[in-house]
Amino acid sequence: MEPGRIVSKKPLGPDVTMYWVFAPDIARRRKPGQFVIVRIAGQGERIPLTIADADPEAGTLSLVVQSVGKSTRQMAMLEEGSSLQDIAGPLGTPTHIERFGTVICCGGGIGTAPLHPITQALHEAGNRVLTVLCARTAGLLVMVEEMGKVSDEVLVMTDDGSRGTKGLATDGIRIVAGRVPAVDHAFVIGPPVMMKFASAVTRELGIPTTVSLNPIMIDGTGMCGCCRVTVGGRTRFACVDGPEFDGHQVDFDELMRRLSAYRDQERSAMEHFEGGCMLTGSGGHGSEG
Ligand SMILES: Cc1cc2nc3c(=O)[nH]c(=O)nc-3n(C[C@H](O)[C@H](O)[C@H](O)COP(=O)(O)OP(=O)(O)OC[C@H]3O[C@@H](n4cnc5c(N)ncnc54)[C@H](O)[C@@H]3O)c2cc1C
Ligand code: FES
Repeated sequence: MEPGRIVSKKPLGPDVTMYWVFAPDIARRRKPGQFVIVRIAGQGERIPLTIADADPEAGTLSLVVQSVGKSTRQMAMLEEGSSLQDIAGPLGTPTHIERFGTVICCGGGIGTAPLHPITQALHEAGNRVLTVLCARTAGLLVMVEEMGKVSDEVLVMTDDGSRGTKGLATDGIRIVAGRVPAVDHAFVIGPPVMMKFASAVTRELGIPTTVSLNPIMIDGTGMCGCCRVTVGGRTRFACVDGPEFDGHQVDFDELMRRLSAYRDQERSAMEHFEGGCMLTGSGGHGSEG
């Protein structure tokens, strides 16, 4: 079987799909916190996706992907047995795992997928893992069961109270932190605005915090400069220096400004893609907006 073949695929919720992709070299070498860059079709853009899990024996990787724009929609249309154009990795600096003591792992929406291998490694390293999973509404929660298997406790939060406790990620962090004598470290992965406010809370509570950043990436090798972020007043490249950084040092406002810089182009690529789908019914494979 050639690398990039989609071995299986299952929907996890509206617009969120889990894939198992054949990529034996990457499955063997990957470590928690690392990602791959995939191209869905010829001429397509390169998109970074975190390795949510791997099975070295079967030579497969699990990717959990939220359809937000043209390329992720195009990926959602690929069926089992079809192939990604290419897949490169593992990329990025692996997560620093040690026996901290008690850790909070907080995942927002699709951020739970990259948090899963980190939580698993922290649990295996002997940490007491208190997990907080949050989403706007119940249908947007992913991998709750999987996270339960690698955590000592799981607190589920939804903004609208449709599942678990009603409240935001920041409320969840305060709840679990208030239940134990001390929390030694927190890992927070989710949308930038959630990581920003969660980091403000952990700073107030005196909990060292690691976040995983999602700036726009192109080459993933530190050459293009596209993924630059400011951390502690220094320019860092998320693809090679990260994607994980000290949440108390990250300039989240700059990250959010840079993420919105291409909104017009992303919208027009999506419109072009959807227009192609409706005209040809083909899903626009191989086309590029
Ligand atoms: C290290 C890293 C790991 C990631 N892991 C996952 C994952 O496991 N699952 C998942 O669903 N998403 C993940 N993402 C985000 C994913 O790469 C983007 O959602 C995807 O590139 C969007 O492409 P699009 O063409 O569908 O949407 P577009 O219309 O191009 O963009 C939609 C949104 O995605 C963001 N985006 C666009 N291109 C990129 C890019 N090259 N890099 C980063 N963000 C981009 C933009 O801010 C934009 O708001 C990760 C991003 C990074 C940097
Ligand atoms: S993606 Fe090009 S430098 Fe990081």
